[in-house]
Amino acid sequence: MHNAAFAALGLDWAYVPMPVPPDRVGEAVRGLTALGFAGANVTVPHKQAVMPFLDEVTPIARALGAVNTIVVRPDGSLLGDNTDGAGLMAALRAHGVSAGRVLVLGAGGAARAVVYALAEAGATVAVANRTPDRAWALCRTIGAALEAAAETQSAPKNLRDLCVSVVQPSGRLTAHPFPDALPALAAEADLIVNTTSLGLHEGDPLPWDPSVAFRPGQVVYDLVFNRPTELLALARSQGATAMDGLGMLVHQGALAFEMWTGQEAPVGVMAEAIREA
Ligand code: ATR
Repeated sequence: MHNAAFAALGLDWAYVPMPVPPDRVGEAVRGLTALGFAGANVTVPHKQAVMPFLDEVTPIARALGAVNTIVVRPDGSLLGDNTDGAGLMAALRAHGVSAGRVLVLGAGGAARAVVYALAEAGATVAVANRTPDRAWALCRTIGAALEAAAETQSAPKNLRDLCVSVVQPSGRLTAHPFPDALPALAAEADLIVNTTSLGLHEGDPLPWDPSVAFRPGQVVYDLVFNRPTELLALARSQGATAMDGLGMLVHQGALAFEMWTGQEAPVGVMAEAIREA
């Protein structure tokens, strides 16, 4: 999608895959400036490992413990950021979806980025996970990170309230057991986001309790983008709006593109390139 975007804007740039062995991450990152790279994306398993080799890491990437985008700045220094959560928010905005009361399924790495971005935007977020302790730990970590960000950036008062509420049972960032809590949480949620790995492969169990109904007006967003998932088919069959993870993938890439090039990303071209891939 990046190469399609470069071509569309007439930029003589190239985006290339570069596998790096884990014990050579430092050398690879430090070499970016010398090699004339404008930046890089970082994928599993290196998202955390690159951090010590960067000159600056944004608060969100630090809070998530994961860098997905490196920017080589004009002075050659390296900035690490994470555009995953902002990518989801941009994808939702592009479809006019507002995130008010949100149910997030899962509490792994993908959930962290999603919960951070939603909570930062002021949503009320319930996290339901098979291992509830993991959901609880996620809420505490993200709550503390938002609180720290609010202190350094003198964020609006409502963000401070949000952070304080994390330690209260009635807070706006809450942890719940999956699937037991689904009936109550589903009734409340305008938006349900699947961040679990269920649905990546055919035959996976549903990340849902099929006896709990979706409803028209509800949006079900599945981060999975490589195949049409059973979760989205179920949501659609019950009148809810179903969205797959392609939008988030495209928009996290578009945000990186804009940081590297300083130009507005041709989002439509990027989405088309992915659909054709
Ligand atoms: P990622 O970093 O991609 O988010 P992860 O950290 O392995 O991957 O997280 C996967 C998520 O899918 C977790 O929330 C996991 O639940 P647990 O924390 O209880 O492991 C969830 N998940 C995986 N398999 C599941 C299953 N069969 N039922 C319910 N949740 C499942």
